[in-house]
Amino acid sequence: MKKLFVRTYGCQMNAYDSARMAGLLAPLGYDSVDAPEGADMVILNTCHIREKAAEKVYSELGRLGQLKRGNKQMLIAVAGCVGQAEGAEIMARAPTVDMVVGPQSYHRLPEMIARAARAEGKVLEADFPALEKFDALPAASASGVSAFLTVQEGCDKFCTFCVVPYTRGPEQSRSPEAVIAEARHLAGLGAREIVLLGQNVNAYRGVDAAGRAWSLAMLCDALGEIEDVLRIRYTTSHPREMSDDLIAAHGRGGKLMPYLHLPVQSGSDAMLAAMNRQHGADSYRRIVDKLRRARPDIALTSDFIVGFPGESDADFEATMELVREIGYATAFSFKYSARPGTPAAAQKKQIPESVKSERLAALQALLAEQQHGFDDSMIGRTLPVLLEKPGREAGQLMGRTPYLQPVHVAAPSAHIGRLVRVAITARTANSLHGAVAA
Ligand code: 5AD
Ligand code: SF4
Repeated sequence: MKKLFVRTYGCQMNAYDSARMAGLLAPLGYDSVDAPEGADMVILNTCHIREKAAEKVYSELGRLGQLKRGNKQMLIAVAGCVGQAEGAEIMARAPTVDMVVGPQSYHRLPEMIARAARAEGKVLEADFPALEKFDALPAASASGVSAFLTVQEGCDKFCTFCVVPYTRGPEQSRSPEAVIAEARHLAGLGAREIVLLGQNVNAYRGVDAAGRAWSLAMLCDALGEIEDVLRIRYTTSHPREMSDDLIAAHGRGGKLMPYLHLPVQSGSDAMLAAMNRQHGADSYRRIVDKLRRARPDIALTSDFIVGFPGESDADFEATMELVREIGYATAFSFKYSARPGTPAAAQKKQIPESVKSERLAALQALLAEQQHGFDDSMIGRTLPVLLEKPGREAGQLMGRTPYLQPVHVAAPSAHIGRLVRVAITARTANSLHGAVAA
């Protein structure tokens, strides 16, 4: 057996890709291990979204270079979005790297390993073959209770701050038949929740064998018919793609969870225009109104960027105001990070770091207050909780509410995978506690 160590950075799509890479290499005799020491192959599955994420790769490569000096046969691969964006630079800067593979090309890893082993020198694969990788990958051999399933990749939106359209390529959707088959397979392996993934997952337009285009709402309905699948979620969505049929699907409820990650980035129309978001603050408010009319308990989350070039105090205050109005269950917020090659990076009115830090702190304080308020509102209620895995303490399991909140509850490990009713009794920093109701 050879040892494979995969380190994943960034988003859930990378987590999905890492699992598929491990599955792809298993038939070649690679067994996954949880540390790079003594590994025959190390894959860094990287993220390019902000500067900090990309920098981590180079410091990790420095550490791996030292390990490799004592373990000459170790192969080092850089996969993911840094590989896509900076392949040639990595090869030049980090001589320890044997291969670089972009997010659409990792199905070629076995062949790349063979080429590297024949000492043909360094190997680089970074095209965007149209979804070819999914056909080339072996089916998963294991699944957690909650399973990721990539249905859509890439982005045609070109927000002016974002590298994704360059690293993940154009929007492409897998066929509904392929997605349904993968969901059935995952359910057979024990998945009870399917999380549909895509950079713009609600832009899903899969074409079936009859040539009919499916929306994400149609796909969710079809997946809901798989008996063992108890819950369906999807992420990440773009406000422009929040179609009426998808909102109606939330209204029908069923297995589609009342939870939506719908990034708005800013509450200022001037910033939204400069970001090329293709929606304003009011059109976002209208979408949220429609969603709440269809499904009053829907929990909303978002991503925010503070300190985008040209952001004034008033622009930032418009973001704070939008957050106060909408009320989020939880949210991610980031300081703007200038990314090479994106239009916003070239703008003159960059915001000083100290201003970005102040704004981020104020926004995060408001979001934390909202999250705690939302979590506290669950205390005293009895909620359906899907038990996912062992909890922090012995005799405890971790599960999730429909609103994705982690819940710790006393239950035997044999109950992993069950949907139970839990009376919520308390909240700690980021999770809830409760007891299984009779
Ligand atoms: N700087 C800061 N945050 C960014 N994001 C994307 N690009 C940048 C950037 N250049 C954030 C957005 C996006 C999330 C995945 O990352 O908020 O929704
Ligand atoms: Fe990036 Fe905008 Fe595309 Fe989202 S919609 S991936 S933020 S370009």
